[in-house]
Amino acid sequence: MRLEDNPGRRRFMSTLAAVFGAANLAPLELRARDPFQAPATPEGVPDGPPPDYDKMVKLAANENPYGPSEAVMEAMTEVWKYANRYFYPDGGIVQSIADLHGVKPENVLLGAGSAEVLKAADDAFLPDHRKVVGVDPTFETVYRFATNSQAQALTVSLGKDFAVDMKEIIRVTKLNARDVGLVYICNPNNPTGNVIQKDDIRLLLDSIPEEIPVLIDEAYHHFVDSPDYESSMKYVAEGRKVLVTRTFSKIAALAGMRLGYGIALKEVIQQMRPVIYGSGLNALVKYGGVAALKDTRYEAKVKELNRQNREKTMTALKSMGFELIPSQTNFFMVNVKRDAAQVGDEFRKRNILVGRKFPPMNEWLRVSIGSASDMERFLKAFKEIFPSGPAA
Ligand SMILES: Cc1ncc(COP(=O)(O)O)c(C=O)c1O
Repeated sequence: MRLEDNPGRRRFMSTLAAVFGAANLAPLELRARDPFQAPATPEGVPDGPPPDYDKMVKLAANENPYGPSEAVMEAMTEVWKYANRYFYPDGGIVQSIADLHGVKPENVLLGAGSAEVLKAADDAFLPDHRKVVGVDPTFETVYRFATNSQAQALTVSLGKDFAVDMKEIIRVTKLNARDVGLVYICNPNNPTGNVIQKDDIRLLLDSIPEEIPVLIDEAYHHFVDSPDYESSMKYVAEGRKVLVTRTFSKIAALAGMRLGYGIALKEVIQQMRPVIYGSGLNALVKYGGVAALKDTRYEAKVKELNRQNREKTMTALKSMGFELIPSQTNFFMVNVKRDAAQVGDEFRKRNILVGRKFPPMNEWLRVSIGSASDMERFLKAFKEIFPSGPAA
């Protein structure tokens, strides 16, 4: 059966949607920041869904277009029997995550989406006026940190070919070492979709004072093929002060259910535990998460479909003469040589949601990878909006 054509999934999802509604927004998503007039949610979805949401092609939030796997939905359906209990069994989610990464439960921090773990890092490591170092643009967490806690964001521009300029990150961190509370690295980077070379991560950890925590956000880890990339989980085992975050929102398609986690040394986790609202997780997603970790076939299938749809779409845009940033994720950026927000409005008129503007890359449009038919609709609209290719 094709992933798209699953009536059981549709029934299940509509029940869940009715039960949970919008209550699962993570705290970060509820707080607007504004230097860049970002919308209230991080990934370009405005407050409240557009009226025709169900009819729209959703290429704005790097979501998984296929929905959770059969095994995940079965596991979640079973758990309705605990919906009336506070202290339901949790399906062993913490142990499952610990086993996957070869760590102990004391090294795992669960959150309502990885956004909640990022927020806990903000509260724990960026008390007033501490500084956070990150690239620009990256996942807007780094600026939210600054907005939420009055920390100051020290941002480093991307280098050649939109690569992260690690030497500059190191220089800025060392220069401000006394005040830096956190270094934030998103690998692969959102919104550019490219990876940070494994040697660069090691260089960073070897070069800055070891007491400065480094948050490595691996939300898009599962989509990567590049041999230049590696997960930073191994640095936790090495005893380094890194916090690696992962999410069930992308490869496992549980964005609306809210589950993510961080892996770090016990001391680092202990600093964050008091500032996280740990009991905010529902029973369904914990069981769903355990089933998702086991369902590696589904992961591989989603990864492959994503790769095919991404390559096909990018090849078509390239053949029309557009410049693109090579992507290792479930989204890519294309240089539309026009204001990306205006182009987004054009897509919206055609019932397609695309990424918002990511200053300073104002003319680059971020497009999430949907199903094959989503991408056909996207390409058709793209050709209508740009009938004669990129502007000279
Ligand atoms: C890089 C990155 N980190 C974290 C998140 C937050 O994801 P979630 O809270 O759904 O786990 C996102 C969401 O798009 C993201 O792009």
